Amino acid sequence: MASQPRSVLISGCSSGIGLELAVQLAHDPKQRYQVVATMRDLGKKEPLEKAAGEALGKTLRVAQLDVCSDESVANCLSHIEGGQVDVLVNNAGIGLVGPLEELSLATMQNVFNTNFFGAVRLVKAVLPSMKRRRQGHIVVVSSVMGLQGVVFNDVYAASKFALEGFFESLAIQLRQFNIFISMVEPGPVITDFEGKLLAQMSTMEFPDTDPDTLGYFRDSYLPASKELFRSVGQSPQDVAQVIAKVIGSARPPLRRQTNTRYLPLMALKTMDPSGSLYVRASHRLLFRWPNLLSLSIRCLACGCLPTRVRPG
Ligand SMILES: NC(=O)c1ccc[n+]([C@@H]2O[C@H](COP(=O)([O-])OP(=O)(O)OC[C@H]3O[C@@H](n4cnc5c(N)ncnc54)[C@H](OP(=O)(O)O)[C@@H]3O)[C@@H](O)[C@H]2O)c1
Repeated sequence: MASQPRSVLISGCSSGIGLELAVQLAHDPKQRYQVVATMRDLGKKEPLEKAAGEALGKTLRVAQLDVCSDESVANCLSHIEGGQVDVLVNNAGIGLVGPLEELSLATMQNVFNTNFFGAVRLVKAVLPSMKRRRQGHIVVVSSVMGLQGVVFNDVYAASKFALEGFFESLAIQLRQFNIFISMVEPGPVITDFEGKLLAQMSTMEFPDTDPDTLGYFRDSYLPASKELFRSVGQSPQDVAQVIAKVIGSARPPLRRQTNTRYLPLMALKTMDPSGSLYVRASHRLLFRWPNLLSLSIRCLACGCLPTRVRPG
C-alpha cells in the first residue's frame, strides 16, 4: 500500500530557492509530498502559481505566512489538516551588507528577526506535534556564511551562525524523538537576493564611514562579490534539487553544502582550527592581492581547484 504523502511547509516561496523547491516537491514523480508553499505577501503569488502549473490545488497550495508574526504563523497552521507538518523548511531570509558604521541596530535586529527568530518561531509552532507523533524533519536554508564569516556581511553571517548553533544543539535532543534536522548551506545563488541587496545599497549613504573603509567596500568588496556570483553562482533550481534530495533521504544529514566549487574556500577555515589561515588569506586576497583574488575566483569557476575537500 502506498504511504500517505508527507505534508511540507516551506517559508519564503515568493521567489528564488523557496519557489523552486515548492515546485520540485509538488511535481515529485512518486507524489510523496503535499506542499504548503507560503509567502508573507500573497500579492506575489503569480510566479509560483504559474510555475506550479497543474500541481496547483492538487499537490501544492499557497498560503500566507510572515515568519516575523506569531499571528500569521498560528493562522497558517490552523489551516493545515490536524496542524500536521511532517517537513518544515525554514527558507525565508534577508541579506544585509555594508560597513557597520552605516547599519542601525533596528536594521540589524530585523535581519535576526527574520533569519533567526523567524525560524525559531516556526519550529516552536510545529515541534510539539512532531514530538507527539515521534517523527519529523526540520530543514534550514543556512549558508556557507553560517560556517565562515565574510567581510562586510557581518550581521547576515551572524544570523546564519546563530541558526547553525541553535539547530545543531536541537538536533541532539530531537534524535530521541526521531526528528531530524538538516542545514543546507549554499554558496552564492543567482536569485532576487543579490538584486535586493544591490537595491538596498544604491539608496545607502555613507556619512559615518571613514574613507579607507568606504574605499575597501566599494573598490574591493563589491567587485569581488559580483565576480564570485558571476563565476560560481548556482541556480535556485540546483539548490532546490539538493534540498529535495535531503528531504527524500531516509537518514538526512545534519549539514549539506550545495556548491562543490565553493568548497576550497571552506577548506581555508577547516584546515586550521585556530582560524588564522582563513582570516589571513581572506584579508590578503581582498586587500593586498586583488589580482590573485580574481585569478582564484576564475580557478574556482573552472573547477581546477580540488573540490573533493570535505569540511572536517
Ligand atoms: N541567494 C544567495 O546567494 C543565498 C546564499 C546562501 C543562502 N541563501 C539563503 O536562501 C534563502 C532563500 O533566499 P533566496 O536566495 O531564494 O532569495 P529570495 O529570492 O530573496 O527569497 C527570499 C524569500 O524570503 C522571503 N521573506 C523575507 N522576509 C520574510 C518574512 N518576514 N516572512 C516570510 N518570508 C519572508 C521573501 O519574501 P518577499 O518576496 O516578500 O521579500 C522571499 O520569498 C534565504 O534564507 C537566504 O539567506 C541565499
